[in-house]
Amino acid sequence: MKILVATEKPFAAQAVNEMKKVIADSGNEMILLEKGTKDDLIKAVADADGLIVRSDIVDKAVMDAAPRLKVVVRAGAGYDNIDLATATEKGICVMNTPGQNSNAVAELVFGMLVMMVRNQYDGTTGTELKGKSLGIHAYGQVGRNVARIAKGFGMRVSALDPFVKDEVMIEEGIVPMHSVEELYSQNDIVSLHIPATPATKKSVNKALVSLLPKKGILINTARKEVIDEESLAEALAERTDIKYIADIKPDIADKLAKIAPGRVFFTPKKMGAQTAEANINAGIAAARQVVDNLATGWNKFQVNK
Ligand code: 3PG
Repeated sequence: MKILVATEKPFAAQAVNEMKKVIADSGNEMILLEKGTKDDLIKAVADADGLIVRSDIVDKAVMDAAPRLKVVVRAGAGYDNIDLATATEKGICVMNTPGQNSNAVAELVFGMLVMMVRNQYDGTTGTELKGKSLGIHAYGQVGRNVARIAKGFGMRVSALDPFVKDEVMIEEGIVPMHSVEELYSQNDIVSLHIPATPATKKSVNKALVSLLPKKGILINTARKEVIDEESLAEALAERTDIKYIADIKPDIADKLAKIAPGRVFFTPKKMGAQTAEANINAGIAAARQVVDNLATGWNKFQVNK
């Protein structure tokens, strides 16, 4: 059977080679489409039985063009790029590869934080992370890795997650928070790890960001969609002490940079999971999951059950 690996943002070569091996060893064939457009994906998916993507959009148009498609694996965590309703309608199993790239994202959080508290290395005096409080907005796989690293920096760590019991957080040395208002008002830095869902879209707004204490920082390595960007712009204009860092360019990046020069930083492309290790972990996991699903219907990480 044919397994299409379609990644607009290519995996490291080693990850691609190892995925090819997993797929070939299972008796299947891997087709690679890198840096393709949506049209390229629609053409390439025509005879695919399995599909592996990253943040590439897999919507109805893609699935309509793929009559043989049985399984889509998002090599990574967030699956807001996949039209789950259409997949379910068509009997296509959609899975993600939870945890495989979370350390990479967590490390980038600290890479960008250090850069910003040192004023982007402009020669002026910055601050340290040690002793500062960090609030983790969603204590999932990435959030837990962020907490682990934050402790190494000597930060005080708290988290908000309605799906994680207080006892679990306390046992892991994390102070449980019980509302977004509490999280944003009591932490010098808030690190966002909520998924983009209808409930979370635009949920981080001026009212919340304005609760940050003096010189507060919001760092977003999740999704730009969870931010109400226009209202964030207002918050940054009014509170000239706060900073916003994001691993993916906001739609109004230029406006934000103009309003808050030196207080915002954006990666040009989503870079959180862009390490060789994360590519290898997520790529191999995705290849195995597709192969197993095609062979036996294995669906442990199905997200459209
Ligand atoms: C994820 O959801 O796994 C991360 O945001 C990484 O996305 P990427 O594979 O597009 O880099």
